[in-house]
Amino acid sequence: MRKQIAAANWKMNKTLSEGEQLLKGILGGMGEVQEHQQVVFAIPYPYLLKSNESIGAKKNTFVAAQNCHHKTSGAYTGEVSVDMLQSICIKYCIVGHSERREYFSESNSMLADKVNLCLSKSIVPIFCCGEPLNVREAGIQNEFVQQQLQESLFHLDADAIQQVVIAYEPIWAIGTGKTASSDQAQDMHKHIRSVLAKQFGQDVAGNISILYGGSVKGSNAKEIFSQPDVDGGLVGGASLVADEFLQIIKSLK
Ligand code: 13P
Repeated sequence: MRKQIAAANWKMNKTLSEGEQLLKGILGGMGEVQEHQQVVFAIPYPYLLKSNESIGAKKNTFVAAQNCHHKTSGAYTGEVSVDMLQSICIKYCIVGHSERREYFSESNSMLADKVNLCLSKSIVPIFCCGEPLNVREAGIQNEFVQQQLQESLFHLDADAIQQVVIAYEPIWAIGTGKTASSDQAQDMHKHIRSVLAKQFGQDVAGNISILYGGSVKGSNAKEIFSQPDVDGGLVGGASLVADEFLQIIKSLK
């Protein structure tokens, strides 16, 4: 069975002590994570090492980076490489969040390089895709997302693609309080899985976790996650409040 995943994306929020308090509250309240489930915390770089220690051996619970650079090393002031992440035992990394695509001009081909680098270091890329509002209004969201997948993931082989987690995050639903309806989420997730099935085969596509992101909250998580092709969520704002994120974890299938 593919993994059901609750992933927090703190973005550029929380000081060290605020973050520690939040993590402590969630770890203390969440109980045991079942074998088919995972809880992931994508937190700011400066806290990765310490947070990994706080999580320790807690089962099926991981720390993620929010980004990595697309080159292995070199004169890229301020950047962080996958080698660095691997050296501090980071197992997950968000790749291609829409905020990075928009504010840091990340292209599909650059993201293909990041995916390759992550996989080469056994780091699971949480690959984000999703359309802006004008694309949704034009009714061409399926084609738009398909192109993102093709240009960043279709060079992989069947083994490699099964190491990737996909997060569908419609940009119009991020931080807006305007969640996609569970039908809209299911339609796109089904489309993504069928695109993957055409390229990699039905069995492979069935093994890939596809998360939904965009204004997921404690109150709507259960309905969204109950959709057959939705395997959990990538959560921004609501992951910054312990009780909200705990409810989201409890909503996993
Ligand atoms: P919100 O949950 O705040 O809408 O953010 C979603 C997101 O961008 C997660 O990566």
